[in-house]
Amino acid sequence: MRGLFITIEGGDGAGKSTQIRNIEGFFARKGLVVVHTREPGGTEISEKLRDILLDSGNTEMEDVTEMLIYAAARAQHVREFVMPSLEKGEIVVCDRFVDSSVAYQAYGRELGDMVAEVNHHATGGLKPDITFWLDIDPKTGRERVSKMGEFDRLEMEELDFHYRVYDGYKKIAESDPGRVKRIDASKSIDEISKEIETYLQELCSERGL
Ligand code: TMP
Repeated sequence: MRGLFITIEGGDGAGKSTQIRNIEGFFARKGLVVVHTREPGGTEISEKLRDILLDSGNTEMEDVTEMLIYAAARAQHVREFVMPSLEKGEIVVCDRFVDSSVAYQAYGRELGDMVAEVNHHATGGLKPDITFWLDIDPKTGRERVSKMGEFDRLEMEELDFHYRVYDGYKKIAESDPGRVKRIDASKSIDEISKEIETYLQELCSERGL
């Protein structure tokens, strides 16, 4: 049986890491094998591409170059790690996936439809079973990130960019409500965890897990 592919999305500072641990705990308590991974990254080659993408010194990177490197990292990650894990029946929890490219590169960088098209090739058509969008106002997210240390290349972008990304996520969630669950990330960690677990329980019941 194919496992489950769960992705978690949101602007910087939305609290994704905490919720990934919560999702892992949920499945571990059910005795299921759960692995977590991230994008860009998750394999040796993809992590090297991550370093290039996030290096704050790479100020000359063209938008199209950026989009293609995210897609390249994803193509490797999907084939080397995500698909083999799903084929073994594992639960894969991934910190960001194609929705990030649509939000950041199609909307943030204003590259438009070509982003989805390129990513269709990168993923071979793989789609998450469920996606949690941690909805945080970009200004609040930015304040949280600034308390955690230095900004990476994307975090350094001006607030306007982050509002376009936010708008992108809103459009993604509106266009695919069956898959994408909007979670109000201004709520307490406990409230957010419970909401996510309710969706996961529903999904497990549907799949007989
Ligand atoms: P992280 O800080 O959540 O690990 O993500 C790295 C940064 O890369 C974050 O600012 C979002 C950005 N990103 C994109 O712009 N496009 C993508 O496809 C992905 C996966 C991430």
